[in-house]
Amino acid sequence: MRTNISIDISLSHANTIGNQHGFTDDEIKELNTKISQYHKVLLQERAEKKYGFFELYKDRATREKIRKVSSEFLNRGVENLVILGIGGSALGITALNTALNAPYYNLLSKEERKGYPRLFVMDNIDPVTFKRMMKLCPPEKTLYNAISKSGETAETMCQLLIVLKELEDTIGKEKIKEHLVITTSPRGENAPKSLLHPVADKYEITQFEIPLNVGGRFSVFSPVGLFPSAMLGFDNDTLADGCAEMDILCSKESFEENPAYQFAGIHYVLDKNKGKKISVMMPYSDRLKDIADWYCQLWAESLGKKDDIYGNEIFNGQTPVKALGATDQHSQIQLYREGPNDKIINLISVENHNETLPVPEILTEISELEYIHGQSMNELLYAEFQGTKDALTLSQRPVIQIKMKEISEFTVAQLLYMLEVATAMAGKLYAVNAFNQPGVEEGKKIARKLMLEMKQKKNLE
Ligand code: PA5
Repeated sequence: MRTNISIDISLSHANTIGNQHGFTDDEIKELNTKISQYHKVLLQERAEKKYGFFELYKDRATREKIRKVSSEFLNRGVENLVILGIGGSALGITALNTALNAPYYNLLSKEERKGYPRLFVMDNIDPVTFKRMMKLCPPEKTLYNAISKSGETAETMCQLLIVLKELEDTIGKEKIKEHLVITTSPRGENAPKSLLHPVADKYEITQFEIPLNVGGRFSVFSPVGLFPSAMLGFDNDTLADGCAEMDILCSKESFEENPAYQFAGIHYVLDKNKGKKISVMMPYSDRLKDIADWYCQLWAESLGKKDDIYGNEIFNGQTPVKALGATDQHSQIQLYREGPNDKIINLISVENHNETLPVPEILTEISELEYIHGQSMNELLYAEFQGTKDALTLSQRPVIQIKMKEISEFTVAQLLYMLEVATAMAGKLYAVNAFNQPGVEEGKKIARKLMLEMKQKKNLE
């Protein structure tokens, strides 16, 4: 077994930071009972196929279709891949791209990109950004991937209409299928109506399906993440292998052996018993910063719920915050160390960054720089990480350390899968439905109504 990720919760233990802020053995004993019970519930629900995200990595047929379709588009020399989608339809591929591609990827030449397209993830409806993207990506050299599980999200529909008009005007209706791929829910009697289905029919567009039992924020290993991933040359089979390896660990009942249950359990206990209402995700690698962003959506939208599963108003949820080491040592750490002790700080360390950057031995006459001369940037990053970790512990701040051996398809998949299972377990512990988002739906409805009212008003003027 290649477990290249591990989790260390010892810095959140009462023995390290005291009873007031750390978890105690008694609390873990109590937690263990709950976790064993919910483990069985999750196993049962998994067997009933209630939550599809657990099994996505097993779907070889979809990976094969993705491989074929992406090869066809790549052979046509696509230069830009533009994702039209928001929330769970966008954050996963952004996280994968930042983690697995070279920094400043879009600025590389085609040769340096090994022929793979640039990536633009349009996860907003800011007209300035969107117009700029349209200028940078001429339709004839661009493949758009419209992604929406519900197939009705206003932001995505608005983007799609703009793109379709541009495609009709430039390359013509007949050729739109060469420039647009749709990813949405399957068709069928029991499936919700996706407005993307008639679009796919009208222009005979290739369509990928998001299984009905997979929610947006749990969809990174469905075609939502995997089609763009293949278009960027990432190895989807290795992503699946990483999930499979992590699934072995995350299927264990024992709290000690299951990293997802440790992550969920410590967050739950410290939230409920020690007032830790904020969960900071702070990787020490630029390449993981968008995984922190992805985590924020996962934790916030899954666990932030007004009602528990019994219908009681509980206003549940820990606020997730993203931070980046070492950058945020000069922004957030002052608050984390000396402000309210209401946070769990998840530090992600990376053992091997695959690049080493030595610090040149110049200006040796400045003796104050001796500590850095002849060292490397890697060693400074490591020292900063250790320094922050120790300083937080000295201030009795609970830390969970996630240790990654390196950043690769395999380890990134392990990390994402582990956090998804942790979220499912946290939902059980908090007794909330981690898989719906009624708060988001309401906002969508209000915006749509407002748009209609504005239109009616305009027509009367
Ligand atoms: O996680 C979720 O379910 C949401 O964040 C959705 O991904 C987001 O609202 C976009 O929805 P859709 O994929 O239906 O367009």
